[in-house]
Amino acid sequence: MTLRENLRDRLQPIYFLGQNPITLTGAVLTTSTALTTIAFWFYDFFLPGPPHPYIGLLVYLILPGVFVLGLLLIPIGIWLRRRNLRHSGQLPVVYPAIDLRLPVVRRTLEWVGFATVVNLLILGTASYRGVQYMDSASFCGTTCHTVMAPEYTTYQNSPHSRVECVECHIGPGAGWFVRSKLSGLRQVFAVTFHTYSRPIPSPVKYLRPARETCEQCHWPQRFTGDKFLVNTGYKDDEKNTPQTDVLLLKVGGRTWQGSVGIHGHHLADGARIRYISTDVERQTIPVVYYTDDQGKTTEFISTDAKPTQQQLDKGENRVMDCVDCHNRPTHVFELPENAVDKQMASGHISPELPFIKKKAVELLKVNYPTRDVARQSIVAELNNFYRTNYAQIYQTRRTLVQQAGDEVAAIYLRNIFPDMHVTWGVHPNNLGHNDSPGCFRCHDGSHTSADGQTITNDCSACHEVLAAGEQNPKVLTDLGMK
Ligand code: HEC
Ligand code: HEC
Ligand code: HEC
Ligand code: HEC
Ligand code: HEC
Repeated sequence: MTLRENLRDRLQPIYFLGQNPITLTGAVLTTSTALTTIAFWFYDFFLPGPPHPYIGLLVYLILPGVFVLGLLLIPIGIWLRRRNLRHSGQLPVVYPAIDLRLPVVRRTLEWVGFATVVNLLILGTASYRGVQYMDSASFCGTTCHTVMAPEYTTYQNSPHSRVECVECHIGPGAGWFVRSKLSGLRQVFAVTFHTYSRPIPSPVKYLRPARETCEQCHWPQRFTGDKFLVNTGYKDDEKNTPQTDVLLLKVGGRTWQGSVGIHGHHLADGARIRYISTDVERQTIPVVYYTDDQGKTTEFISTDAKPTQQQLDKGENRVMDCVDCHNRPTHVFELPENAVDKQMASGHISPELPFIKKKAVELLKVNYPTRDVARQSIVAELNNFYRTNYAQIYQTRRTLVQQAGDEVAAIYLRNIFPDMHVTWGVHPNNLGHNDSPGCFRCHDGSHTSADGQTITNDCSACHEVLAAGEQNPKVLTDLGMK
């Protein structure tokens, strides 16, 4: 049999059976969505910036869905018709020949062949563009606007604002890609039917291990050395008296002598830390296992927490990685005191305004019904405060007061999202020990092993405190920094 005859034998049944309403509907759906999609690609090409999220949703996800549905209807129609004919005994033994001498038949076949090639091209391009679109920060951050607003806002103000959400939340490889798309589907339902939790719970239960995300960009064994940290806060007196901490933080890493410092002790190749936490937020950690370079494992048990066996069995058993300390590398929710201190230290809120620290924190802690009300009230109240209590300052330093009002409102808008029940302290930062337990979840001096070792609580194990809460730290003058 020649190739030509072979092809004819295959095409004849398709041609004959293809003339049914379902197949024809499929062809119409496919063609019309294909034309719409192509038209949009041209439009998108000339569009500045990404499309509106809902238009993106339509063009990149819903239209291709209809397109694929149309494609599927074509063989389904053929199959159904064949089954019906067979049941009624009308299936021809020999299919009517396709008469290639008839121009209408020739043209139909040419058209179908051409459409198939075009459809394959569109399907390829649409899947590629769809995936590209779904992986963009603007899709993750703005499509379900209210839901992701807290994470998207903090992300935009962070050192990782140029890193796509998917680099940390999905990472490379097909397995996690499919997993994330399945979980994404569930999330779309949750958003549609308003069944999602407020706030979105943290920690993320199935976050990909940091080794496969953070470590694609950061090299954990790199020796970072000591980090010099100067942190200025302000008292809530009239003069906003400054109090400065100066720390030499021993971040460490790997040296020729082995692993040193904070990074070195938790991340060395041989040594590994595993722990059991008994609350969902991983804030209570009663048991820690430490395996040293020689492979010996020590069990540290908290003498304070006294967990029951049942709690331990129900608890989460987890290998420590970057995210156990850096749980807020990008979604950095601040506390009102720290946020005001930071803006004062950088001069955005002038420390020369009397009582500004006290007043700013006070205004930030009020329970406002909406973000809009908050912004207006904060600005109005702060102006009011200086107009009534410090009329002279209000006259001469009007711009400073105005600027302070705007900055305080901005702090509120960066951190508080009433719709999502995100308020102060909902997402604690584990990197430290002053505002939340952080390092002290294990390093509280009460985690002891059977042979009497303790996970250290020595202040100089992690940092040298060169000044704590001093108005004019001598060390800074000595270093020529003040
Ligand atoms: C630098 C890495 C990184 C990037 C980039 C990133 N995230 Fe996250 N995200 C995290 C980590 C780490 C957590 C907290 C994980 C934990 O504690 O288990 C988190 C938590 C979350 C949570 C859970 C709620 C919370 O605040 O803890 C949501 C929702 C979220 N991210 C959404 C996003 C969105 C949307 C983007 C992009 C706009 C994004 N993330 C970009 C690392 C990242
Ligand atoms: C796609 C690359 C990429 C990934 C993935 C990534 N980071 Fe980063 N990270 C960066 C870049 C770039 C910077 C430097 C930003 C700068 O200097 O402004 C940075 C900075 C940091 C810093 C220093 C922040 C500071 O305040 O200076 C920390 C800590 C950090 N990353 C932790 C993490 C953690 C934890 C993860 C995983 C959850 C992660 N990163 C994932 C690229 C990445
Ligand atoms: C035991 C807690 C802990 C773990 C685990 C940890 N870090 Fe850190 N890391 C710190 C501390 C503390 C600092 C200094 C914080 C600061 O800059 O204020 C730091 C600083 C950093 C910095 C900034 C260094 C610089 O030069 O400014 C980067 C980047 C970083 N870590 C990445 C990582 C990555 C990636 C991982 C996982 C492979 C990781 N860290 C695991 C505690 C930890
Ligand atoms: C999950 C428990 C856990 C958490 C959380 C934790 N650590 Fe550790 N850390 C350990 C264990 C276990 C050791 C090893 C104890 C030993 O040396 O016997 C250790 C060792 C260290 C050491 C070395 C101490 C020495 O003996 O010289 C430093 C420094 C350190 N941690 C800093 C930190 C810092 C900073 C943080 C918070 C950002 C932190 N750790 C959070 C469990 C933890
Ligand atoms: C397990 C490690 C560890 C131990 C032990 C430890 N610290 Fe810290 N400390 C940290 C880290 C990490 C930070 C946060 C640095 C940062 O802001 O990034 C910090 C921050 C501080 C700060 C500055 C707070 C600020 O925001 O300005 C002071 C002060 C301080 N520690 C005092 C102490 C004292 C006093 C002790 C002894 C009781 C102690 N620390 C024990 C890890 C430790």
